[in-house]
Amino acid sequence: MSENHLTEELDEAKITVNEFVSGTKKLYIESYGCQMNFADSEVVASILRSNGYSTTSDVVEADLILLNTCAIRDNAEQRVRNRLSILNSNKKRNPELKIGVLGCMAERLKTKFLEEEKMVDLVVGPDAYRDLPNLLAEVEEGHKAVNVFLSREETYADITPIRLDSNGVSAFISIMRGCNNMCSFCVVPFTRGRERSRDPYSIEKEAKELFDQGYREVTLLGQNVDSYLWKSETEQFTFANLLEKIALIHPDLRIRFSTSHPKDITDEVLYTMKKYDNICNYIHLPAQSGSSRILELMNRTYDREWYLGKIDRIREILGEECGISHDLIAGFCTETEEDHQDTLTLMDYVKFDYGYMFYYSERPGTPAAKKYEDDVPEEVKKRRLNEIIAKQQEHSLERNQMTVGKVYRILIEGESKRSDEDLCGRTDQNKMVVFPRKHYKKGEYVNVRILSCSAATLKGEIVD
Ligand code: SAH
Ligand code: SF4
Ligand code: F3S
Repeated sequence: MSENHLTEELDEAKITVNEFVSGTKKLYIESYGCQMNFADSEVVASILRSNGYSTTSDVVEADLILLNTCAIRDNAEQRVRNRLSILNSNKKRNPELKIGVLGCMAERLKTKFLEEEKMVDLVVGPDAYRDLPNLLAEVEEGHKAVNVFLSREETYADITPIRLDSNGVSAFISIMRGCNNMCSFCVVPFTRGRERSRDPYSIEKEAKELFDQGYREVTLLGQNVDSYLWKSETEQFTFANLLEKIALIHPDLRIRFSTSHPKDITDEVLYTMKKYDNICNYIHLPAQSGSSRILELMNRTYDREWYLGKIDRIREILGEECGISHDLIAGFCTETEEDHQDTLTLMDYVKFDYGYMFYYSERPGTPAAKKYEDDVPEEVKKRRLNEIIAKQQEHSLERNQMTVGKVYRILIEGESKRSDEDLCGRTDQNKMVVFPRKHYKKGEYVNVRILSCSAATLKGEIVD
C-alpha cells in the first residue's frame, strides 16, 4: 500500500460522536505498510483525540508528527528514513514540534531508533498505543520516550477508531492482532507479537455503528483471519461464525476480509461465503511460491498440491468467478530457475485476478536470515519478479475480459479519479468499475453492464 496522507474528513455522524472533544493541539499522522497499520492509525487518532489532539492533513501546522511504520521489506524502512529526514526540516522551523515513530519499524528497532535517528522523540510499538498520552507527557518534559512492550491480550476492542482518509462507504475493522506462524522470511511475528482474537461482540458493535453512519462495506482484518478463535466460558466463535454474525447485521452491508492463509481456510468459511450474498466472493490467498521445496524452506506448512487443492475447492464451492488474488515472492534463498518456473506454472493453473508481487528482502533476526544465505543475485530476483508481474498482467486482463457483457452489482465508492462525470465502485469479486454517473451517488448500489476492460479496470454503464 502506498504512502497515504491521512486527513481529517469527518462526516456529520462522526463529528457528533466526537463533539465533546475540542482538540487544541494538532496531530499529523502518516501510515505505511498494510491495512492493519492504517486501521491502527485510526485507533491512535481516537486515543489522542480524547487527549486534546485534533488531526490535520497539513504537516506545517502540526504540533506532533507520527509516522506509523512498516518493516516488511528493507525498502519500506528506507522510505521512512527518507521521510524522517525531510520532516526534520519542520523541526528547524518549529522547535516545539515533536516527532514520533509507531508501528512495526518502531517495534523492530526499539531504542536503537533513537540512536540512529536523532530527531525522533518518541518510539511506540503496535501494542502500546494506550500509553501514548503518558509517553507524550514525558516528551513534553523534554525526555525521549519509548514503549515497545508486546501484549498477549491487547486488541483495542473498546476504542472506536476515528476514520481517517475515508470515503464514508468502506472501512477496515481489525478482528485480531499478531501472528503465530513463523514463515521464515517474515518479520511480522517479531513486530506484532502473539496472535489474539478480538471479542466478536465488539466487532459486531463497530460494524453496526458504521452501517448506521452510512458505511456499506467493512473489511475484517488480520494477518491470518482463518485462525480467528474467540472463547468465553459459554461460547466459541470461529472465523466462519464471526463472518455469519457480521453478515446478519444487514444485507446491504458488504463484508470482505484479509488475509487468508492456505493452510487454515476451511470449507466452513467457503460455505458461509456461499450462504450470504453480502459476503463478497473474493479471497486473497497468498501463495508466496509455486515450488514445494521453496515453500518448505519458507515454513509455509503447505505444498504446491495443497495450495492448488484449495483453489479447486474455492472454485467448486463458490464458482469459477470467485475473485482470487495472491502474494508471491521472487528469489527467496536457494531459488533455482526450476523453482521459479514452478511459480509461473502455478500462476498459469490458477489465473489469479490480481496479485501483490515482491522480490525477497532479508529481514534481520528472521529464521531465514539466521538459517539460509540470501544467495539469489539482485538482478536475477528482479528479472524473475518482472516475469511474474508480466504474467499477472496477462491473467488480470484475461480474467477481466470474462466480465465483458455481464451485469454486476456495484457499491459506489465515489467519483472516478479521471473524471467527475464518472463514478467508480467494485464488483463483489473486488474488480474496480468506472461508469457514467447519471443521478447516482456514493454509498448506493447499482447494476452495471461491463462494456470494456483493461488489466486494471472495467468500464461499464448503469442498467436501471
Ligand atoms: N499475513 C499475510 C502476509 C503479511 S506480509 C500472509 O500470511 O500472507 C505481506 C506480504 O509481504 C507477504 O504475503 C509476502 O508476500 C511479503 N513479504 C513478507 N516478508 C517479505 C520479505 N522478507 N521479502 C519480500 N516480501 C515479503
Ligand atoms: Fe508473516 Fe506468515 Fe504471519 Fe503472514 S502468516 S504475517 S507471512 S509469519
Ligand atoms: Fe508492515 Fe507491520 Fe503490516 S511490517 S506489512 S505494517 S504488520
